[in-house]
Amino acid sequence: MKPVIAIDGTFASGKGTLAKKLAAHFGYAYLDTGKLYRAVAARALEVGADLSDGSALAKLATLITPDELESPALKSGAVGAAASKVAVHTEVRVALKNYQVQFAFAPPKGFAGAVLDGRDIGTVICPDADVKIYVDAKSEVRADRRYNELLSYGEDISLAQVVADLTERDHRDTNRAEAPLKPAQNAHLLDTTNLSIDAAFEQARHLIEIILLPK
Ligand code: C5P
Repeated sequence: MKPVIAIDGTFASGKGTLAKKLAAHFGYAYLDTGKLYRAVAARALEVGADLSDGSALAKLATLITPDELESPALKSGAVGAAASKVAVHTEVRVALKNYQVQFAFAPPKGFAGAVLDGRDIGTVICPDADVKIYVDAKSEVRADRRYNELLSYGEDISLAQVVADLTERDHRDTNRAEAPLKPAQNAHLLDTTNLSIDAAFEQARHLIEIILLPK
């Protein structure tokens, strides 16, 4: 079995950047599982689907294609906020589970393992992952990061709006009944509040090497 690395954490904690860098470093395939929920949300917004109708949303989830996950439109704040509403539904989570499990255990050809990042990778999708990392940072720092990211996409948004969205998103992701955001029991905690991207990467790389590489 090829190694699986699960990276979970809060919104704008830096987990996506970290996961992508780790995947490139180790030659593993990378899946940003948030894009799956964003893709369902984008389809729902496009057709005007009711975000409280789990079974209608689950049907949209079955239509998602890998190409669609690369759409820049998925990065917007509006799609992200809708994604966290879509993600509360058990039917949607079930519809998206198989794709993630398949990716983890049979990564695309040419890759030596898989890195998945999300909210429930270490707890639900890959409870037996070889390495689990839970990434978090103080909310003010996360809000700043997200604000700058949205500005770089050309969005017209205030920092106050980003703080409000972040608070709402954290609350919804951690309090939902199905697969709430929380560290897996055996996850390694990584607080990126005072860490640069490179410093966070170095800590995670070191940890993974200790766990995975033969002594
Ligand atoms: O990480 P990202 O901001 O792209 O995720 C968008 C939303 O999708 C999250 O706020 C969360 O509600 C949901 N999500 C999830 N489980 C995952 C990944 C994302 O519930 N594994």
